[in-house]
Amino acid sequence: MIQKEFKVSYTEYGSIGELPPEDRELAGAAIEAMSGAYAPYSHFHVGAAVRMSNSQIVRGANQENAAFPSGLCAERTAMFAAGAKYPDKDMRSIAIAGGVFGKLSAEPATPCGACRQVMAQYQAKAGAPVSVIMVGANRIWKFERIDDILPLIFDSI
Ligand code: THU
Repeated sequence: MIQKEFKVSYTEYGSIGELPPEDRELAGAAIEAMSGAYAPYSHFHVGAAVRMSNSQIVRGANQENAAFPSGLCAERTAMFAAGAKYPDKDMRSIAIAGGVFGKLSAEPATPCGACRQVMAQYQAKAGAPVSVIMVGANRIWKFERIDDILPLIFDSI
């Protein structure tokens, strides 16, 4: 028997101003994208911004529906829009921000499992690491690759 472990390291920033310029721009875009949320049920507004390999940024926000499973998270709204707009390009990075009634939460916005799985597949398509920036008012976390937030990714097809 061998005891094994996963080790994840990530960077914590104290404010958006501390981020490198490209990440700062993407984090700012995610915060701005929160205004596009349609969240009449949860009132939790989430914004996401995807940076593609052509440097373009595509934004998304959560869209809710009375038939609950029909709604979609901000991250997948942004990733699918980016994939549809730039089918020949790859995702390089994604930033996420959220908060109740559009007020940015103090703690970083952490993506749901389904969105992590979609991120994993776009990373596999890219063949290069996709970084994730989780934005909060009090701190910001940056993970360098999707494997760090979704170990043992399903990629068998
Ligand atoms: N939501 C996102 O947009 N992204 C996440 O990573 C987690 C949750 C949305 C879904 C729903 O509209 C609202 O936040 C409350 O769960």
